[in-house]
Amino acid sequence: MSEIQKEIQRRRTFAIISHPDAGKTTLTEKLLLYGGALRLAGSVKSRKAKQHAVSDWMELEKQRGISVTSSVLQFEYQGNKINILDTPGHQDFSEDTYRTLMAADSAVMLIDAAKGVEEQTKKLFHVCRQRGIPIFTFINKMDRQGKEPLDLLDELEKVLNIKSYPMNWPIGRGSEFKGIYERATAKIELFTGSGHGATIVPTQTGDLTDPAIVGAINEQVYQLLKDDLELLDLAGDEFDSELVARGELTPVFFGSALTNFGVEAFLNSFIKMAPAPHEKNSSAGIIKPEQPEFSGFVFKIQANMDPAHRDRLAFVRICSGVFHRGMMVKHVPTGKVIRLAQSKQFMAQDASTVDEAYPGDIIGIFDPGIFRIGDTITEKSNFTFEPIPKFPPELFARVHLRDAMKRKQFVKGIEQLTNEGAVQRFRYPDIGLESPVLGAVGVLQFEVLEYRLTHEYGVDISIEHLPYSLARWAVGENLTARSLKSMDNLVLLDDDDNYVVLFRNQWAFNWEAERHKEVTYLENPPLR
Ligand code: G4P
Repeated sequence: MSEIQKEIQRRRTFAIISHPDAGKTTLTEKLLLYGGALRLAGSVKSRKAKQHAVSDWMELEKQRGISVTSSVLQFEYQGNKINILDTPGHQDFSEDTYRTLMAADSAVMLIDAAKGVEEQTKKLFHVCRQRGIPIFTFINKMDRQGKEPLDLLDELEKVLNIKSYPMNWPIGRGSEFKGIYERATAKIELFTGSGHGATIVPTQTGDLTDPAIVGAINEQVYQLLKDDLELLDLAGDEFDSELVARGELTPVFFGSALTNFGVEAFLNSFIKMAPAPHEKNSSAGIIKPEQPEFSGFVFKIQANMDPAHRDRLAFVRICSGVFHRGMMVKHVPTGKVIRLAQSKQFMAQDASTVDEAYPGDIIGIFDPGIFRIGDTITEKSNFTFEPIPKFPPELFARVHLRDAMKRKQFVKGIEQLTNEGAVQRFRYPDIGLESPVLGAVGVLQFEVLEYRLTHEYGVDISIEHLPYSLARWAVGENLTARSLKSMDNLVLLDDDDNYVVLFRNQWAFNWEAERHKEVTYLENPPLR
């Protein structure tokens, strides 16, 4: 096996999807703990507090107690290189999560045992399903009273329409949650630690006949375990690795991220079963990760991560070849050749300079202002990876600058924040960029925008919400703003000078589409 193949084979790049509060931050932290990237896990709160210190605009997250940004963390575990793509849980940022999922090779679906499959999990699950990536399920908070494990498997099948195969089974529930039974090896792992979760939890292993193990489990719990296992063997789905690979069967693990119970067992199985980076579709056909030419795509852009330096980072998922710091690459959409002199990788909570990276890795590269989400970079070829679809905006607002002296900062701020993909910017055909109309998927995006414009660009704005809920890109012969205009709609231009028409509702759109057969209305912008 060549060096690059070895490096590819040991990589696992995945994202955690869940409903807010299911324990994603806690689980991420515990994975880092077991990966040796953290020596002592603090409480989730203190970790969150530390993160906020990194970037001042995250103050907003702190106030609201939500996680807005996605971060990328890398650590080594048993010879594997693990890349965790963290994603915001709040639904208003689901587009950000969606893009992050485009950069992941598999997903971990985290479920709160007491709540089961929640709304946000459902949405994100469907994105993974569409992409056909393997989905691993971790049922969390087993240290609390929750739903019965068999009912939870039933819920996966009924609500998400996915088969499941429990890799392990909980021994006891709630405060009696004492260990797990691993089905493949028929081994029991009992947790003997205090369960505070700050350090790796010691375990004792044995099998169902081992007196030391049996003696440590109360009789009722033991009987329940045996009954459950019998039922699973009889009525459960069969394990099938091909179905797992296609995302049609999810391996299920039980545990408690808070007390660390089951985290190690999960991680050990996960690294064996989760896929290494594989080939990707492009405009020039399949691109194999081991092909020598470096290539990747931008899935996230973030400005001002460090308030002391007004820089912008583009997060690139490497798809093929080897990245070397200082290498020259081509930005395919513009044909510009740039040197990747500054590049960052994110280990635990620190960003460090990276000299070499492989397919599956995420690097943060300095953005001279040319990158947009979805852009492909290569060493010399002109192919592009599949575009990252945008969510159609559903909320629209006109933004006004309060102090005309700040016009330059205002235009720059809006431009940078739209390039990050948080909001989409449109303008009136006859006016410049003074009072742009912004489109967003969730109302929080306007709040973040307002907050960041004030704190990062020193610009005061007012936001005038508009009564539209649907945007369509209009294409056709000889279209003009005038020909598209009606009593009820608003005709705007996007940054590529495409016409965008806003409608009040679906009904208004249908009515107009019926009358204007010469116009094709698209849900997404036409390709650049
Ligand atoms: P999130 O990133 O998915 O939003 O969740 P996060 O890790 O912040 O966890 C949400 C809450 O759930 C936290 O409580 C956390 O301690 C708790 N939690 C996470 N994993 C477990 C688990 O395995 N068992 C139990 N019992 N609790 C768990 P918190 O910060 O104290 O806040 P709150 O409970 O007041 O909301």
